[in-house]
Order: sequence, then structure tokens, then C-alpha cells
Amino acid sequence: AIQTLTTIDAARALVRAARAEGRRIALVPTMGALHDGHVELMREAREHADLVIASVFVNPMQFGPHEDLARYPRTPEADTDRLAELGVTAVFMPTVEEMYPDGGRSSTVVTAGHLGTVLEGRSRPGHFDGMLTVVAKLLAIVQPDVAVFGEKDAQQLFLVRRMVRDLNVPVEVLGVPTVREPDGLALSSRNRFLQAGERADALALSRALEAAGAASDRGVEAMLAAAQGVMQDDSGVRLDYLAVVDPRTFTGASEHHRGPVQVLVAARVGTVRLIDNATFTIG
Ligand code: PAJ
Repeated sequence: AIQTLTTIDAARALVRAARAEGRRIALVPTMGALHDGHVELMREAREHADLVIASVFVNPMQFGPHEDLARYPRTPEADTDRLAELGVTAVFMPTVEEMYPDGGRSSTVVTAGHLGTVLEGRSRPGHFDGMLTVVAKLLAIVQPDVAVFGEKDAQQLFLVRRMVRDLNVPVEVLGVPTVREPDGLALSSRNRFLQAGERADALALSRALEAAGAASDRGVEAMLAAAQGVMQDDSGVRLDYLAVVDPRTFTGASEHHRGPVQVLVAARVGTVRLIDNATFTIG
């Protein structure tokens, strides 16, 4: 049976016991409302560790004042059942007070720096600092050998890897390819808020990435133009940004770039904000 841990002390006790037996620990941080994308992360975690701890915590610190914190889906019972079926050892589900005992906030913040203010960070000020801070806390609480993240949130994964390097956190970070619906839509906890018509409109994102990929033999500008064309055709989506970045630096790839690039897209469909990305090789 899966163990539900709600306190930091309980999590530490479990970790201590596992370590004493020489067992390898994987951490999979989530905000719950689990879908098949999260499931893939748990599978990957199991392959790299003896014991998997999933965290389910809707982190207020990474939501802006006008964002969807209050309506973020919360399904703790279904999540626990799902994790139990997957053979996850324990789920860490702390309260906000447990994680932020100082009146719900942390005075010390891990900052993403400049990369926290561009692309996703430009539309969501403070989001990446809040995300990195909670990930740093979770890594300090669980002290896992490996931590597993999805490529779906490409900028998040890049920033987590960089934080781990910058702060010498002794953990191996694993990225898992984006899990999609059969028609291409990237799975997201927010997809459940899409109305029927919006669900169809949302396909513009993955189609734009596909179009960019089909143009990859013609360079960065051609990729951007192809993706832009798809996004403009769909009146139901409001484009936030479209970018082609060098995956080594997460900054814009120049026109004569050769080698792998990441195409990033963010758009609003109805009231739902969606992101997606894909990697292609120019050259
Ligand atoms: P959440 O949105 O719940 O996502 C948890 C993990 O699942 C992230 O690493 C995310 O990239 C991954 N994921 C989401 N959709 C995916 C998909 N379709 N395919 C593969 N992986 C997918 O991301 C967060 O929570 C939070 O920012 C968190 C890291 C937990 C910090 O609060």
C-alpha cells in the first residue's frame, strides 16, 4: 500500500529508513490532477530507483496574483489511487503551512535570473522563482538520487537543471518526452477546462510545431514563419509567444544555426493558457 506523508518529518523518516537499507530514491514533483504524462514520469522514476516518492503540492509561490491558483484542479484521492497502482512507495502531500510556515511565504528565494523573465517568465512574472524555490525545498526534504521532470515544460526543465548545477545539488535530473493525445495535443492538467470547440482549437499548438519541423531544412526564420502561419489560421487561439531556441542556452537561435533547436509555443484558448514545444535538428 502507498504511504501518504503530510509532514516534512514523516518524509524525512521514510527517506532515512530507505537510505539505511542502501536503497536508491527517486522524486517526482507534481501539482496533482495526475494524467498519463505524470504516469510516464513515475515509470521512468521506477526504472532508475528502488523507491519512488511523488509529491503533490499546488505551490502558491509559483502562481501570479491573477493566475489560476484557486481553480487549479485538486483530486488528491484519485491521485493517490493512481500512484498506488503504479507502485509508487509514498506520496508527499504537505499543506501550504507545512511548506511555508512563515505566513505562507518564503523569505529566501531561488531566482532564475534573466531566463526567469523571458518566454514563459515574461507572461508569468515570478513564476520560475517560485517554481525553483519549491523544487529546491523538495530536493532538500527528500534528498533523492534522481528527480524526474517532463520535457513538456521545457523552460522549467532547463532552469531546474541549471539550478542543480549552480547550487551543486547532489541529484541526477531526468527529462521525459512529452506525452500526447493521439491527435497531438500535449497532456496537461489544464486541458480539462477546454470546452469542446476549444479542444479542437488547442490542436493549433502541436500543429504549429509540426509545421516548424517540416520547415527545419530551411532554417530558423522559415520554421518561425511556418508555425506562425498555423497559429494565425486558427481564430480561436491567441498566440502569446513563438520562439526557436538553442537548447544549450535557451536563448534565440540565429538564422545560420545548425544542430538541434527547440521550438516553443504558448497561447490562450478560451480562458486556458497552453504551452508546448518540440525539438528538431537544422542541418
Ligand atoms: P505539474 O504541472 O503537475 O507537472 C509535473 C511534472 O509533469 C512536470 O515535470 C511536467 O513537465 C510533467 N508533465 C506535465 N505534462 C506532461 C506531459 N504531457 N508529458 C510529460 N510530462 C508532463 O510542473 C509542475 O507541476 C510544477 O511546476 C512543479 C515542478 C511540481 C513545481 O511545483
